[in-house]
Amino acid sequence: MKRMTKEFLETAFAGESMAHMRYLAFADQAEEKDLVNLARMFRAIAFAEQVHATNHYREMGHIKDTAANLQTCIDGEHFEVTEMYPVYNNAAEFQGETGAVRSTRYAFEAEKIHEKMYTDAKQVVEDGKDLEIGTVHICPICGFTAEGDAPESCPVCGAKREMFKSF
Ligand code: FE2
Ligand code: FE2
Ligand code: FE2
Repeated sequence: MKRMTKEFLETAFAGESMAHMRYLAFADQAEEKDLVNLARMFRAIAFAEQVHATNHYREMGHIKDTAANLQTCIDGEHFEVTEMYPVYNNAAEFQGETGAVRSTRYAFEAEKIHEKMYTDAKQVVEDGKDLEIGTVHICPICGFTAEGDAPESCPVCGAKREMFKSF
């Protein structure tokens, strides 16, 4: 792909991805205000933005074979754990931004687990198999990720087991 087209698609991918997330967050806010139809519209349009983002991502050739896709995930999570979140957390600390200190710590803690899960998964996939994993539980407050049994309470933020979202 020509360089400028590639750069434009990367930018479009980032923009569509952000719109997707923004609309989902706004849908939750609308639902809390009992604006259920507005929430539904937000979620529908969020899905359309997901389609746009995915189309751009595919055209750039970023969706490869499974092992390569998992390596992309490992690299991303590894960067977040070893560079990005430690630095962002320090910067937030330095500037006295307690909310950002918390949100970056929450992410940091979960990304460590994600890197491990993706690394283990890549091994299994390279052996030509699918994963043998139980239910995956996600803390809706901090993103803490647990496989198998959900903890009584989240070890990172203390949220109760009942709140966890299961996959
Ligand atoms: Fe869009
Ligand atoms: Fe992650
Ligand atoms: Fe949590």
